[in-house]
Amino acid sequence: MPLTVVVGGFFGDEGKGKVVSYLGLVDKPSICVRTGSINAGHTVNYGGRTWKLRIIPSCFLNETTKLMIAPGALLKIDVLLREIEETGTRGRVWIDANTGIIEDRHVESERSNEYLMRTIGSTGQGVGAAMVDRVLRVLKTAKDYPELSGFITDVSREVNEEVDRGGLVIIEGTQGTFLSLYHGTYPFVTSRDTTASGVISEVGVSPRLVSDVVLVFKSYVTRVGAGELPGELSPEEAAARGWVERGTVTGRPRRVAPFNLELAKRAVMLNRPTQIAITKFDALFPSVRGRRRWVDLPVEARRWIEEVGEALRVPVTLIGTGEDSMDMIDLRREVFGP
Ligand code: IMP
Ligand code: MG
Repeated sequence: MPLTVVVGGFFGDEGKGKVVSYLGLVDKPSICVRTGSINAGHTVNYGGRTWKLRIIPSCFLNETTKLMIAPGALLKIDVLLREIEETGTRGRVWIDANTGIIEDRHVESERSNEYLMRTIGSTGQGVGAAMVDRVLRVLKTAKDYPELSGFITDVSREVNEEVDRGGLVIIEGTQGTFLSLYHGTYPFVTSRDTTASGVISEVGVSPRLVSDVVLVFKSYVTRVGAGELPGELSPEEAAARGWVERGTVTGRPRRVAPFNLELAKRAVMLNRPTQIAITKFDALFPSVRGRRRWVDLPVEARRWIEEVGEALRVPVTLIGTGEDSMDMIDLRREVFGP
């Protein structure tokens, strides 16, 4: 699987950070590329530690992986430098010359924009405002900042050359399919295309180079900010099911609904995955918590996975059963599977 793209199938917060960190540890990619921006928080738990990442690729746990930021991504320099220290990844992080740079004034402009903050429920990280400047061709990019000169590389060239050499590259998408600026629940969406095709465009690779698309679904659906959420539960019902979450970046409570097969089918159409990952499976079946083998799952849990795979006509290959990056059933590696 030389080039693997990981994207979210619902409204973000599906557990992409966990899936990508697992793939990093087990598949040991040569390169992991982060797309999107600092409005997206990816949480990684490993060996009793927790990292909340907004720009460093979630593969960082594997020390041989080069960590790259896509030319189509946007970062804020203070966030980048802080996360490099928190993850101890200095010397392994590379940025494209064209990566966009968010300035304080972009953050201020979003936070004083009532439509964005109240109607849309933006995270207020300045990402949309910086995208506006990018489209107007006035946004500064990484090459304009001498303090970033030591980080700069040609990310699309590095990725293309690595894949041509037969190396493994993972592209880490952010947010979810239905937050896509083009294919989501407009106008209640983010400022970029979050689908597999949008994500690879941010990196600068051809669709012909992609071997695997991993579409990540959580075992229930969450959404932060405004916009439709079919089957939304009351906060009391969500609490009764143990499905209470808060946003990684904003700390806002997330709205909750049960797993939605119709939404999942549309996400499959838009992303054409080769594999599906289901995260937080222990939220549906508490007895699977921490299990790492298919044979250790109860029959009803196996049947749920089989039915989802059949309905979507895509194999479920990864099943998250706990917070730790390694709490994963990996059906790519099991002799006995569904
Ligand atoms: P913005 O992209 O920060 O302006 O936010 C626009 C909408 O996308 C809001 O509803 C946000 O809550 C949502 N959003 C943006 N990034 C994420 C994310 O990483 N996870 C979940 N929702 C997000
Ligand atoms: Mg998140």
